[in-house]
Amino acid sequence: MEGKDAVVIVWLLLLTVASDRVKGTWSQFYHLRGRLIFQEEFDTLNTSRWQHIITAWRGGNNEFEYYTDRPENSYVRDGVLHIRPTLTADRFGQDFLYNGTLDLWPEGCNVNYNGGCVATSDEDIINPIQSARMRTINSFSFTYGTVEIRAKMPRGDWIWPAMWMMPTENRFGPWPRSGEIDIVEIRANNDFTCRNKQMGNTLMGSTLHFGTDAQHNVWRPTHYEAVLEEGDFASDFHVFGLQRLPQSIRFYVDGILIGEITPPDGGFWEVGQLDRDPGGPNIWGNGTTMTPFDYPFHFILNVAVGGNFFPDGCINHQFQKPWSTKIKQQMLPFWEKRHEWLPTWNLQHGDGASNALQVDYIRVYEYDPNDTVDWYWYQRGLASNSLVDSQRLNV
Ligand SMILES: *[C@@H]1O[C@H](CO)[C@@H](O)[C@H](O)[C@H]1NC(C)=O
Ligand SMILES: *[C@@H]1O[C@H](CO)[C@@H](O)[C@H](O)[C@H]1NC(C)=O
Ligand SMILES: *[C@@H]1O[C@H](CO)[C@@H](O)[C@H](O)[C@H]1NC(C)=O
Ligand SMILES: *[C@@H]1O[C@H](CO)[C@@H](O)[C@H](O)[C@H]1NC(C)=O
Repeated sequence: MEGKDAVVIVWLLLLTVASDRVKGTWSQFYHLRGRLIFQEEFDTLNTSRWQHIITAWRGGNNEFEYYTDRPENSYVRDGVLHIRPTLTADRFGQDFLYNGTLDLWPEGCNVNYNGGCVATSDEDIINPIQSARMRTINSFSFTYGTVEIRAKMPRGDWIWPAMWMMPTENRFGPWPRSGEIDIVEIRANNDFTCRNKQMGNTLMGSTLHFGTDAQHNVWRPTHYEAVLEEGDFASDFHVFGLQRLPQSIRFYVDGILIGEITPPDGGFWEVGQLDRDPGGPNIWGNGTTMTPFDYPFHFILNVAVGGNFFPDGCINHQFQKPWSTKIKQQMLPFWEKRHEWLPTWNLQHGDGASNALQVDYIRVYEYDPNDTVDWYWYQRGLASNSLVDSQRLNV
């Protein structure tokens, strides 16, 4: 939206206090959800359910990792999934980054986009980080329902964890025509400020992406943020929530609504003001107000490192960003400054997992159209004492 930043920032501590007055917790409203249709408690890493992506393709944001299914990068410990970035040099040695060839075909490469199955050191070094990305594309997708993910974010400079959803079929064409739902993303740096705004690990974001092509990738009107005033997202577990309903999409943190979009009659075409730019026929014109988000999406969990998600011109404590997004060679300066960022990953600390995304569970409840009480508005009504008795009786 031109000149208008629709980013909604929620200060979690403040709102927690506010919702205490409601004298209700999220769990008291569970009956408003339908059947449990997906339950992953991570007692084991079920590779029939979770497909690993194996590739050195650097994602849409020119990231610095390659993805593998090796057990040092994704494993279950004590009922918690860990996705943890490590150093490529720990597997292949340091020389390898400068003059080796990372051939991922023998280990089952499955994304050869941009030649991602083989990486060599021509313009830059070989991807210096080894990490994991997993998805449920072959095992589970859903359209309407409520998602709850209990997870703890990694800590460490330039680490970018993401728990998100992509369309299982690209019905309206390639990204971002068929949509993208980012449930939670953070920048895991302890202190990273951009224009005086703290963008490090006290801030989380949830986002819907949609549009006609990469140049018309709309996200600003559907980007929501929450800030922790005590601790950070790497110090404790939090429950990240998503509700996909036929009229609205909502994002929650610890049961607190941080953002909601209920598209107008013109749907996401109107939300994105795509009539103005690029114009042309509404590619979702035959759909509902929720199109393209009214189709099945699947889960993706990954931990990326580096790339364009970390803007230039920000201030990082204690060492500045070692690469520029304007220069082609980015991984080399990043790697050569490892004495600056690697200590923040704290690889030796505790069980060595402080730089891991840790996921305790993922649960999905189907949307139950028979429920006439909308628990979010019900909760708001309680807070403002505006509900009549008959509505209260439904609890
Ligand atoms: C593993 O995932 C598959 C596919 O979703 C499922 O059928 C199976 O029950 C799962 N196994 C365990 C032990 O949960
Ligand atoms: C690879 O590069 C490193 C660092 O530039 C160099 O020390 C080493 O000799 C090279 N190895 C080979 C096999 O070329
Ligand atoms: C909408 O449906 C009509 C009739 O089936 C079809 O001709 C048209 O191509 C569709 N438009 C889009 C954008 O899918
Ligand atoms: C909604 O109610 C109808 C009619 O009672 C029932 O057939 C259907 O299974 C219910 N749907 C859900 C999701 O419970």
